[in-house]
Amino acid sequence: MLTTENLNHAERLKSESLRALADTGGDRSERLIRSAAGIELDASKQRLDVAALDALIGAARDAGIEEKRDLLLSGGIVNGTENRPALHMAYRHGANIPGSPEAELVDRTQAQTRAFAEAVRSGAFQPSGKPITRVVNIGIGGSDLGPRLIADALADHVESGPELRFVASLDPSDLKHAVAGCDPEAVLFIIASKSFSTQETLMSGEAARDWLAGQIGADKAGDHFAAASAAPDKAKAFGIDPERVFDFPDWVGGRYSVWSAVGLSLEIGLGPEVFAAFRDGAQAMDRHFADAPLEQNLPILKGLIDVWNRVALNYPSRCVAAYSARLGKLADYFQQLEMESLGKSVTTSGQPGQTPGGALVWGGSGTEIQHSFFQWLHQGKDIVPVDFIGIGRHFASADPRERALAANMAAQGAALLDGRQVDPADEPILAAHKSMPGGRPSATLILDDLTPATLGALIALQEHKVFVESVMYGINPFDQWGVELGKVLTKGILDGEITEYDASTKQLLARTGLIGG
Ligand code: F6P
Repeated sequence: MLTTENLNHAERLKSESLRALADTGGDRSERLIRSAAGIELDASKQRLDVAALDALIGAARDAGIEEKRDLLLSGGIVNGTENRPALHMAYRHGANIPGSPEAELVDRTQAQTRAFAEAVRSGAFQPSGKPITRVVNIGIGGSDLGPRLIADALADHVESGPELRFVASLDPSDLKHAVAGCDPEAVLFIIASKSFSTQETLMSGEAARDWLAGQIGADKAGDHFAAASAAPDKAKAFGIDPERVFDFPDWVGGRYSVWSAVGLSLEIGLGPEVFAAFRDGAQAMDRHFADAPLEQNLPILKGLIDVWNRVALNYPSRCVAAYSARLGKLADYFQQLEMESLGKSVTTSGQPGQTPGGALVWGGSGTEIQHSFFQWLHQGKDIVPVDFIGIGRHFASADPRERALAANMAAQGAALLDGRQVDPADEPILAAHKSMPGGRPSATLILDDLTPATLGALIALQEHKVFVESVMYGINPFDQWGVELGKVLTKGILDGEITEYDASTKQLLARTGLIGG
């Protein structure tokens, strides 16, 4: 919860010039520009000063952020509605649980996925007498977005290995394009599903198996399947050889699961060493989160800034602008991580939340987005804080395109902050159209370079900042009960049991023929 003191600071700062705040320099810059694990957070364009920042940190202490952080990292029950810890960090050994049962389980499952990844990459695994040349990950949400993002983000770090493709949509075209051009005797399907009961994933998995049976025979098709799931018995019941069912515990949340067996496609496609470096980068951020004083703690600072913008300044959304072609999927990943974690209106005690939960998160990659929605950001009525994510190496690169990419990102932050007042002179109407209000905050996160380690650190930073926000909102970030109703209603429609459904839906279904008229 934010305090009256926080809200009073917000009222005071609302009338301040953001340009004047950003020009303050001195202690303010010291406090709002911090680095850790290969990432620099520059929050100097936020509508904050030292007094307001100190009050935010005070509010975090009052909310018990240090005790709750320690509970999270030590495997305490932080997911009350499912009575579970949230120990995805254990997969980076960043949590303080060496030697615990969790650490032993993690070590076993990591050894199994690594061994299988090495067997596939070396050609030792040849289900139809040929080395695997294409891996198709079938999954959705956290069983898709993480692998898909990391595969794209680290594509320049891959020397060799099977080609990775991803199927998430029920649209048959998704599977069709994922297998296009592959040698059916050299394809491996990985069904990634924590519950192993997600309709989309199971239907696509069955369709993939039917397709492959049509290509190489039903008796061989099953040899080309593996699974990553917290429900291994269901994966085995699907017909996947137990040797190729890689499990993980239910205390790894779906949107926090890329570190676990859900990352199997990455360990195969990128190689175990790259995947290990990715995890190690996250571990470095875990240790920073665990050890750094609140005032210097990147997840704490970023989480408080996002709460400040959402609740004190009442900005309902936040834009993620990644200035790297390889981070084009970052906004999608952050969207699920944040909105499925923080899109809640009930507190952990079941009471209506006193403040809104997390922001609407959207975005894309720069500079392309400057040619799509930046007009709206600069001259629209709504103020939307922007997270610029850039690559430090670009700023002094020998390649003019990389320097231009960095310059564009810096320029957009400056333009949002200060705007432009065009002198009306003799064309007051045109001047009004050309003027830009400014006063629009942004944060800049600069990765030293885009490497497995800095990418891991960035994802871990985001996971922990979501946790910090959840503490300030008083909500459980690790469950997602809001997605259940849609699944039940879909089942009702497909089973034809819709008498209780609203007339609009019934008429739609009758008109379109999904349900008999
Ligand atoms: O969207 C609901 C959800 O449960 C996500 O939390 C999860 O990442 C996704 O569906 C897929 O679930 P599973 O990995 O169990 O197939």
